[in-house]
Amino acid sequence: MKVAFFDTKPYDVPGFDHYAAAADLEIKYFETRLNADTVSLASGFDAVCVFVNDTVDSAVVEKLYEMGVKVIALRCAGFNNVDIRAASGKLPVYRVPAYSPYAVAEHAMALLLTINRRTHKAYIRTRDFNFSLQGLAGFDLYGKTVGIIGTGKIGRVFADICKGFGMHILAYDKFPTEDSGLHYVALPELFAQSDIISLHCPLTEETHHLINADSIAQMKKGVTIINTSRGSLIDTEDLINGIKEKKVGAACLDVYEEEGDLFYEDFSGHIVQDDKLVRLISMPNVIVTSHQAFLTEEALDNIAATTVNNLVRYFQGDPDTSTEVCYKP
Ligand code: NAI
Repeated sequence: MKVAFFDTKPYDVPGFDHYAAAADLEIKYFETRLNADTVSLASGFDAVCVFVNDTVDSAVVEKLYEMGVKVIALRCAGFNNVDIRAASGKLPVYRVPAYSPYAVAEHAMALLLTINRRTHKAYIRTRDFNFSLQGLAGFDLYGKTVGIIGTGKIGRVFADICKGFGMHILAYDKFPTEDSGLHYVALPELFAQSDIISLHCPLTEETHHLINADSIAQMKKGVTIINTSRGSLIDTEDLINGIKEKKVGAACLDVYEEEGDLFYEDFSGHIVQDDKLVRLISMPNVIVTSHQAFLTEEALDNIAATTVNNLVRYFQGDPDTSTEVCYKP
């Protein structure tokens, strides 16, 4: 079984090599992303393994199928970058539905604590022996209301963390979980009541630009918005306007609408052409991380173990057929 592994980063290799060796899986690591220009690299392979910013659109699916690739293995949870309809009837699509909800939820809280208490600025100041506290005042999280949109695995861990801080929690989910103990409200109420709003729902046609000028208008002045889910949940231009008008007090972004061209790469010596991202990064009340919420040792190990297991079971004729894991043809 030969696997073409796209968008490889050095931290992917040890875990995948470890599990692949035990499973007799041969992996060829490509640094490039999978897209229409690079798909021919998958020729001669049985499977492709892709991540969040590979482009598996209908043209790529068609080409993979023509070349005899049999299966697509996502080594992530979100699958908005794969044209599932195009794959239907041709290639099964596997994913890793949960590798560490703790990793993502903890990162969301890390971003909130950082932007609120300005620890990123304090760190730089004290390294320069500047011990002034001017401009570093935050607010107590205790007693504040956090609105959580999407109360699946990650949203619920984030809710537990917030409870530990003594925060009030409002929740919205298209499919609320009955036994979660969470207080579900309609979106307008969540927008109106929350001091902090954290996004943990998937990107779908319905949730695309869920945060836009209209929803921002319904929010409290000074609201903090956290997005560790998918960039296109937020209309970036509307967010920038909301921050400029001081309606939005702060934004914590681990994901960004146009991240595919930039995230995971080093552009420190370049003039970045994406003016919206540059504007966001220039703002003192915005913190951007490069889609790293998943990046813990435990998550990387689970990703490798589950992806290899998905592939091995598929090739051994005993595929995991649970809808959580597999989008079958
Ligand atoms: P999950 O599937 O356990 O939970 C998603 C929740 O969103 C479910 O409760 C579902 O009912 C709800 N939902 C679906 N449609 C909705 C809608 N229209 N409005 C409101 N809620 C809706 O997923 P999980 O594991 O909690 O992950 C959530 C998202 O986090 C993923 O879709 C992915 O985009 C993102 N993610 C980001 C990572 C990062 O490194 N930044 C890593 C892993 C996931």
